Formats: sequence, C-alpha cells, structure tokens
Amino acid sequence: MSTYPDHLDVEAIRADFPALARTVRNDKPLIYLDSGATSQKPVQVLDAEREFYERHNSAAHRGTHLLGEEATDVYEGARAKVAAFLGADVGEIVFTKNATEAINLVAYALSGPGRLQVRPGDEILITEMEHHANLVPWQQLCERTGATLRWLDVTPEGRLDLDHLDSMITGRTRIVAVTHQSNVTGTIPPVAEIARAAHERGALVLADAAQSVPHQPVDVAALGVDFLAFSAHKMLGPYGIGVLFGRAGLLEAMPPFLTGGSMIEVVRMEGSTFLPPPQRFEPGVPAVAEAAGLAAAVDYLTALGMGNVAAHEESLTAHALDALREINGVRILGPDTTKDRGGAVAFEVDGVHPHDVGQVLDELGIAVRTGHHCAWPLHRALGVQASTRATFYVYNTHDEVDAMADGIRYAQRFFGARQ
Ligand SMILES: Cc1ncc(COP(=O)(O)O)c(C=O)c1O
Repeated sequence: MSTYPDHLDVEAIRADFPALARTVRNDKPLIYLDSGATSQKPVQVLDAEREFYERHNSAAHRGTHLLGEEATDVYEGARAKVAAFLGADVGEIVFTKNATEAINLVAYALSGPGRLQVRPGDEILITEMEHHANLVPWQQLCERTGATLRWLDVTPEGRLDLDHLDSMITGRTRIVAVTHQSNVTGTIPPVAEIARAAHERGALVLADAAQSVPHQPVDVAALGVDFLAFSAHKMLGPYGIGVLFGRAGLLEAMPPFLTGGSMIEVVRMEGSTFLPPPQRFEPGVPAVAEAAGLAAAVDYLTALGMGNVAAHEESLTAHALDALREINGVRILGPDTTKDRGGAVAFEVDGVHPHDVGQVLDELGIAVRTGHHCAWPLHRALGVQASTRATFYVYNTHDEVDAMADGIRYAQRFFGARQ
C-alpha cells in the first residue's frame, strides 16, 4: 500500500477529462504533468461553453432581447461565482484575458492619472522569483514613470530572502508585487506577512495567484492583498479569460487601461466619461462563453474542495520529491520538502540537457515542461540555464509519479549520464 495518502477519488475525476483517455507516441497512455502551463478541461467545462453557444449565444450587456438577457446573466453569474470563490465582493472582480493582462492592467493604471499615479523616485518592489508576467510589466511601469524597480532575492534553497524585507519596503514603495506560488520551485512565499509589512509603510500589494488559486484555498481578505491575478486556463477552465481582484476603493481610483465600447458613461467628440468598476476595465464584447466555462471550473473545484485539492497535490509532491531524491545525478530546484510548497517540481539531471530529458519523457508518453518556464532570473539565481518541470493537478496519480522517475532513469541510461 502506498505511504502517500489519497484525498481525492482520482479515478472518478479522470473519467471527466476526455484528453486523459487518449494515447500518444505509439499508443502510450498520456501522462500529463504540465498543468502548471495549462490544465486539462473536464466535460463539465466543455459542456458549459457548448451550452452557452447552443442556447444563449448573444452579446452580454447589449440588446433588449431574451438571449442578450441570458448572456448577461451567464456573465454576471460567473462574476458572482468567482467572487464567492475568493471571498471578494462582486464589484471587485474584473474579467481580463488572463493573469498577464490583469497584472498589466494594474501596472498601466498606476502610470495613468489619479491619486495612485506612480511618480519619478517612487519604488516598485518585486522578487527574483517572479514569472515574467509579474516582472516585465513592472519594468515597463518604471520606464514610463521614472520609478525604481527593486527586488527581494531568492535563497539557494529557492525561498524568498526576507531578511531585508523591512528595509526593502520604504516610504517610497508604491506597490509590492509578489508571486503566491512559484511556477518553478513551487515555493509559497508568506504573502500575508509581506502584505502586512507593505501596508504598514503605505504600499499596495499585488499577488500573482496564477499558480495558487488553481491549487490551494485562497481568500483575499485573509491574504490581505489589494490586487490578485490569475487565469482560468490553469484551473480547469478555458483559455481567453482571467481575473483581476482589486479592492473596491482602489479600482474606483484607477483610470481605465483599455478603452472603447461597454466601458463608457457618456461619449462626446470632445471626450468621454467612464463607467464605475468593474465595467470600466472590461471594454468590448465580453468573453461570455469563457466566463461560463470558468464558472463551471469553479463549481468543479468547489465540489472537490480546495483543501482536498491542495492535500492531493501535497501527497503527489511529497512522492515526487522522494522519488527524485533517490535518483543519483538529479538536483531538485527549490525546497525539497512540501512545507510552504506547492506542486511544481523543477529539476536538473546531471549530464543531460533539460530538452533531452523532456524529449525522452515525451517518447514515453510523459508530458513535462522544459526551459526557463518564463522565470529566467529565478533560474539564474539558482545557477541553472534551464530545467525540467513536472506539475501536478487533481487528475494525477502516484503511478504517474513513479513513471516519471523511471523515465528519468531511462533518460540517464540513454544519454550515458552518471547515475
Ligand atoms: C506564476 C505565473 N504567473 C503568471 C503567469 C501568466 O499566466 P497567463 O499566461 O495565463 O497570463 C503564469 C503562467 O505560466 C505563471 O505561472
């Protein structure tokens, strides 16, 4: 019997995911260990999108006909569901294209007019651990405004170095933008503690929750953040829709990012006024089918229980860390215990390039990610150019973890690497 506890009925879950039933590369069962890039989608999500198109397809917030009303209900119903999932108010949920757009929205709004405007000499604090989506927009904000970008370093173990947190957040710090779970090392930084320190000095806090909302219970009030960003496609939902949570008073103070139809109050040739949030930040015809899919994904995860989802992934991660530790020549990047760590496990195989590891695993039907995973500075900090990364989700099994470990040993033999 496995020493790793089960918290989900994985067999029943897998039956909901058509893609997991297919075979790849000469009839091998697909072992999908790349959910950190994007998750597979259950039939419930696919059906929700199909039902929208088959029965209610129409532009939300427009038209005085029944289908238009239904589309508006679907869209606003999804907003309410997401708000409840995060412990937020409905008006604090802005739909975006993805997490990247949500972060850009905040970074652009902070360089626009208004009381939140970042000025020359202000400081933006990020970390060396960030995905490029929570790094490049802040670099660009600094270029536009003359603010200075500062960052917290990463320890050799892949944790955030918080020794200098107090001195790094100064009276000039306007926003601290930090990941809530690293997409490379799985590290879960103490965001609530960072938020408290930031607020004491009057700075705002944004959490990049692209890898946390899909995998652990997240309550924005408990975290104490001002903004939080994530994508539907990493949490069993569709592409093309993401979420920005923003505290109501802050969204109210922010100028629009993208402009056009649906976000205006009055338009004259001389100028326009804008709707209150969240509509102010949602120009154009909204992605209603995608919102329906996201709502179905939220329902699916809620039915499983986010605590169970996190416990299942912790069990798989513990197994993967143990299995990798047993392989000579494999180095795990980041924490090698599951404490404050989620289910992203990146590693190096001595003498075998990550792309070669990935290719051999792929031939065995095992899908992993290779490269810098859009976190180049983090890889540099950990002293590597690139890595191989396995990420786990609700449908992964302990047998799949064992198959990955066997695959890595096979890759070592194949390339004549030291074992
Ligand atoms: C930690 C983190 N932040 C942000 C993103 C960006 O997400 P998206 O590409 O869906 O906007 C990702 C995607 O991999 C991520 O892992």
